[in-house]
Amino acid sequence: MRRKLLFGNWKMNKTQAESKEFAKESIELRKFALANDIDIGVAPVYLSLETVRKANPDLIVAAQNCHFADHGAFTGEISIPMLLELGVNWVIIGHSERRSYYAETNESCNKKLLALEANKMTPIYCVGETLEQFEAGKTKEVIKAQTLEGLNGLGKEFVSNMVIAYEPVWSIGTGKNASKEIAEDICGYIRELVHELYGDAADKVRILYGGSVKPENVHDYLTQPNVDGALVGGASLKVDSFRQLIENMIK
Ligand code: 13P
Repeated sequence: MRRKLLFGNWKMNKTQAESKEFAKESIELRKFALANDIDIGVAPVYLSLETVRKANPDLIVAAQNCHFADHGAFTGEISIPMLLELGVNWVIIGHSERRSYYAETNESCNKKLLALEANKMTPIYCVGETLEQFEAGKTKEVIKAQTLEGLNGLGKEFVSNMVIAYEPVWSIGTGKNASKEIAEDICGYIRELVHELYGDAADKVRILYGGSVKPENVHDYLTQPNVDGALVGGASLKVDSFRQLIENMIK
């Protein structure tokens, strides 16, 4: 039985003070989620990682990116040992905004995933097609390349414990969420790909849907057998909305 997971990707939002306030308010929320077998986490900006972790040590906290090297001449980057020093051991890898604005590729994601495996950390590896690819009927082709190239060389245990998020680019921040049927089709397809590569690790890997998830539609996704939760941007920023997401996941 895979545990449900709700993750807020805060992107470049919230000051440290705002992040701290959310983290404090989420203490009760986390207990409520746990009592209903749901794991919850957030990905604040780097500067707020420690603040959030200290304000609510039970909340899962992820960085939104990392570098694959431990240290070096990479201006503006943050390494895995630096995150571990703060007690952060989850990282989002390959978000579509990083792929499109910062030239992240399947190959660079793979290097980061290998580095996370070496450090026993947990990734949320994001995959998803653009609108153009969706309209050209290329979704599965794109997802297959992102999955196979991203996971290349990773071990079975690491893959069993990782999280993969299917986030169609056309649904992110647009209000045009994918139907539950599309989410199930692609999350199921990702699970099949993992099964081909890693056998029963596919039964354990958690696969999330992301893209304009709101309290009003989150339940639909959770009714789908291959969707284990949601990766949420805009609707994760306010604690009330986050609470409603959890409540509607349970219903
Ligand atoms: P929205 O929920 O704002 O569409 O963002 C989704 C996302 O990119 C989460 O990583």
